[in-house]
Amino acid sequence: MCPKMNVQFLSILLISTIFTIPIFATPTPNTYPSRFLKHKTTQNENNSSTSPPQYYFEVTQPLPTSPLTPSCTLPLFNHNFSNTYGQPPITIPYSPPKNCAWTHATLQFTSACKGNQYDRISAVWLGGVELLRTSTAEPTDDGIFWKVEKDVTKYYSLLVQENITLAVMLENIVDDVFTGVYQVNVSFIYFSVHQRRSSSRKVKKTGRKFLENGKGFSDDNGVVLENGLSDSSSSSSDLYVQPADLIIPVSGREEEGFWFRIESELDKKLKRISIPRNTYKTVLELYVSFHGNDEFWYKNPPNSYIISNNLITQRGNGAYREVFVTVDGKLVGSVVPFPVIFTGGINPLFWEPVVGIGAFNLPTYDIDLTPFLSFLLDGEMHSIGLGVADGISFWLVDANLHIWLDPFSEEVQAGYFENEVPSFEIERSAEFDGLNGEFEVEIERTMEFSGWVNSSFGNFTTYVKHELEFESNIEIKKDGNKETIEQEVTDKIEVKLTSSSGSTISEYKVEKEYALEIETTTTKGANGTYTMTTSLDNSYEEETNSSELKNRQKASGWMLVEGNEVLDGQSNMNQEYSYKGNSICYSREVSTANGTLLTDNNNLLCLSSY
Ligand SMILES: *[C@@H]1O[C@H](CO)[C@@H](O)[C@H](O)[C@H]1NC(C)=O
Ligand SMILES: *[C@@H]1O[C@H](CO)[C@@H](O)[C@H](O)[C@H]1NC(C)=O
Ligand SMILES: *[C@@H]1O[C@H](CO)[C@@H](O)[C@H](O)[C@H]1NC(C)=O
Ligand SMILES: *[C@@H]1O[C@H](CO)[C@@H](O)[C@H](O)[C@H]1NC(C)=O
Ligand SMILES: *[C@@H]1O[C@H](CO)[C@@H](O)[C@H](O)[C@H]1NC(C)=O
Ligand SMILES: *[C@@H]1O[C@H](CO)[C@@H](O)[C@H](O)[C@H]1NC(C)=O
Ligand SMILES: *[C@@H]1O[C@H](CO)[C@@H](O)[C@H](O)[C@H]1NC(C)=O
Ligand SMILES: *[C@@H]1O[C@H](CO)[C@@H](O)[C@H](O)[C@H]1NC(C)=O
Ligand SMILES: *[C@@H]1O[C@H](CO)[C@@H](O)[C@H](O)[C@H]1NC(C)=O
Ligand SMILES: *[C@@H]1O[C@H](CO)[C@@H](O)[C@H](O)[C@H]1NC(C)=O
Repeated sequence: MCPKMNVQFLSILLISTIFTIPIFATPTPNTYPSRFLKHKTTQNENNSSTSPPQYYFEVTQPLPTSPLTPSCTLPLFNHNFSNTYGQPPITIPYSPPKNCAWTHATLQFTSACKGNQYDRISAVWLGGVELLRTSTAEPTDDGIFWKVEKDVTKYYSLLVQENITLAVMLENIVDDVFTGVYQVNVSFIYFSVHQRRSSSRKVKKTGRKFLENGKGFSDDNGVVLENGLSDSSSSSSDLYVQPADLIIPVSGREEEGFWFRIESELDKKLKRISIPRNTYKTVLELYVSFHGNDEFWYKNPPNSYIISNNLITQRGNGAYREVFVTVDGKLVGSVVPFPVIFTGGINPLFWEPVVGIGAFNLPTYDIDLTPFLSFLLDGEMHSIGLGVADGISFWLVDANLHIWLDPFSEEVQAGYFENEVPSFEIERSAEFDGLNGEFEVEIERTMEFSGWVNSSFGNFTTYVKHELEFESNIEIKKDGNKETIEQEVTDKIEVKLTSSSGSTISEYKVEKEYALEIETTTTKGANGTYTMTTSLDNSYEEETNSSELKNRQKASGWMLVEGNEVLDGQSNMNQEYSYKGNSICYSREVSTANGTLLTDNNNLLCLSSY
């Protein structure tokens, strides 16, 4: 992360704004852009100043705190992001509210924008720890606004700290063409769930045990002290039944916005950290987004196709990517990220006023590193590495290392068991004749790790099994004017805790399935314009022992494009969302057409806050 890279990135950006104009004016097949600006699509100039700004949203479920009255609210951050490209994040000091009893907290990120602007990536960090990765909606001349709410209780140990820095990054470009300034507010809202709970933190030192169901801890009287995060909307939250005692950021320099900018597979980022010797559990939480030539990595053909057809595009390297994590050089986990489509992506008309799955609150990925504690508990510095297999420029990746400490012991002992050697298989095939072809990638990865930790709670073994399957198929026909993308990811994770007698203390299983299909046909029009007709089906499913989430968007439509600008078009989008958990059962169905919300039906079958 040296300044050189910024310069390098800037030059790529200049190339894409200056030199691509002639390219897009007469686009050659397979160099059609995938990111667009929806410029004054269907608006009447006279009407534009009179229509009120439109509310945009991402379909999600109510937070478990939503029925509660906040104990207090902390409006903290208010900034207009105009020409912020290449600049450090905006920072402000944070301290928790005084005279306010609270046990849970949510982060509220609101934004408004008016004019002409691309979607931008943004993030919020507290003390260098990332709390939210979000992207902006592309504005209209009438203006738009939106609100993102996230349960941040798992960052409790940070939220109670005084005088730490809240940082918000949003790199925007404002000039004569791109006029949209993003106004951003960030607030924290605090809730008190059970009076018992706030006092339970003091009980902490007097003794607690694992509950047999693995759902938390009890005090000496068997009262459940910490419970209830299992219904927070964040993924894999069962790993955070109780917030960590300490969170160490695995992130870069503040001046560059903390996230690591990863430009290639070789561009692996390392962070040296040292963890307390009484750590008995640790989970790495990954934040990931993809941009530039890899924003649509799942559509990228192999380089052989690009070279043999003399294409100018740099969006290549095939359609497989995997974000990997190492500890002292050893591979400890990996993730194929869910393909979040930002609001300028594929067809921007699909994403108004309901944005793509994850666009306002990008999914995070948890890797339980407890089996590796024996390598980390020596009080020495160790390096955590983050990289992107097959990645090209650029990815924004960082992570938070959540750490749970033994309150009764200065030191715990840990050991590592040798397991089956991790297996990885990849098969690629590329068949093409000129611009027509078919490309396939399939991977299968299995990793099993286990280790024991002897703490005051006992000697427990953590067993982690991770099975990942990835399949991608790209078909290009009609001399590059018809493209069909199919991608499927299945990710199974099992985390099992057993006592030294062999009995199971807790077992957590999560199975995620992402399926994406995009079909686009392009026809050339007059004066370098072209019409793209697209159908899209993108779904995110997540099933754990105690919850089931299904979220699926289907969209279709066409658009008339000049350069990257959408001149006209029409669209339909339908989204079905359902969630069943211990305390929330929720379903919602929305449909939109031509930028208008047509239906929005939701059904809250059950909701009991914590
Ligand atoms: C906008 O309104 C002005 C005056 O009210 C009128 O002269 C003009 O033709 C209108 N333009 C359009 C595009 O309707
Ligand atoms: C706004 O546009 C709509 C449709 O284009 C038209 O029916 C309406 O009269 C316009 N309103 C104003 C105030 O110009
Ligand atoms: C941001 O811009 C809006 C609109 O121009 C203005 O009303 C507001 O005061 C600005 N806020 C800040 C913090 O500068
Ligand atoms: C931000 O907060 C200010 C002050 O409360 C308010 O006037 C403004 O509308 C808010 N902006 C957004 C985008 O929420
Ligand atoms: C935080 O900053 C305030 C004001 O500078 C100071 O009074 C307070 O002691 C600081 N708190 C801590 C924990 O450093
Ligand atoms: C396990 O840890 C406990 C508490 O730290 C300690 O008393 C005990 O000696 C340890 N057991 C072994 C076998 O080291
Ligand atoms: C903890 O348990 C594991 C597996 O049962 C065992 O191999 C290890 O020696 C134990 N450690 C201690 C300190 O007792
Ligand atoms: C093409 O561009 C020329 C010159 O700008 C213009 O006169 C003509 O009307 C355009 N044709 C179409 C079909 O837009
Ligand atoms: C998960 O499901 C398995 C099998 O249904 C069950 O044995 C186990 O207790 C469950 N674990 C939790 C934490 O609910
Ligand atoms: C969307 O717009 C197109 C053409 O402008 C129109 O044919 C279609 O009926 C519209 N759809 C809806 C649901 O309004």
